Amino acid sequence: MMKLKTKRAAGCFACLMIATGIAASLVSANAAAQAALSADDGLRAFETVRSVLQHPRCRNCHVPGDAPLQGDDSVPHDQGIVRGADGHGAPANECSSCHLDRNLPLSYGPQAPPGSPDWHLPPPALKMVFYGLTPRELCVSIKDPRLTRGRNLAAMMAHIRDNRQVAWGWAPGGLRKAPPATRAQTVAAFKTWMNAGAPCPQ
Ligand code: HEC
Ligand code: HEC
Repeated sequence: MMKLKTKRAAGCFACLMIATGIAASLVSANAAAQAALSADDGLRAFETVRSVLQHPRCRNCHVPGDAPLQGDDSVPHDQGIVRGADGHGAPANECSSCHLDRNLPLSYGPQAPPGSPDWHLPPPALKMVFYGLTPRELCVSIKDPRLTRGRNLAAMMAHIRDNRQVAWGWAPGGLRKAPPATRAQTVAAFKTWMNAGAPCPQ
């Protein structure tokens, strides 16, 4: 009886040593991956992320003003559309009166309203601005949880990877252009930037 207990205890101890060893080598592998990335690698990766966030397909909703923008030159939205109290537009002139949960086929014309589920702007109290910022301002703001609804960088990365509104940017309907990097490239660049310590340009 006594012998068995000792044996079990010894077994567990060995398990623990192995598990600790694995954990330690994972930590050091991760640290090595991070150490291998220079600040320049991080800055290059951030530039890819920036070129997407500030592309018209993304920036036209991430605006400092109180109305969405439209088109590649980001002009004010036609029809005097406003952000409204919660980002869904003015009463009786809501985004959903024109924007459906999907794009219309091209047979409706290249300027038919694009669509995705729950099309709207961020609320006025937390505008999540990408438009009109310098690269440094954009970088600093997406690292500031007061401006991101408390999302940290990993959560921002997950939003870009998983969110359906973000998906629309790469399938925008009509003759609209998609951002310069693919969605997978953008997520990969975001991870590289994070692993390089999320440096911001000067
Ligand atoms: C009266 C109809 C109407 C309403 C209401 C409306 N839109 Fe639009 N919106 C359009 C049309 C039509 C287009 C396409 C214009 C074009 O391509 O020339 C458009 C385009 C846009 C674009 C540009 C997409 C791009 O990348 O070029 C954004 C952003 C946008 N709308 C946001 C909104 C938001 C947010 C609301 C609500 C606050 C809203 N719209 C309300 C009709 C409307
Ligand atoms: C139709 C308007 C619209 C378009 C177009 C749009 N977004 Fe957004 N975006 C929003 C809204 C609304 C939120 C806030 C939603 C939330 O917090 O859940 C948001 C939130 C975000 C956030 C989280 C921001 C933060 O500060 O936490 C990121 C990142 C983001 N969008 C990236 C993108 C990217 C990348 C694109 C283009 C590929 C894009 N968005 C296009 C409306 C839009």
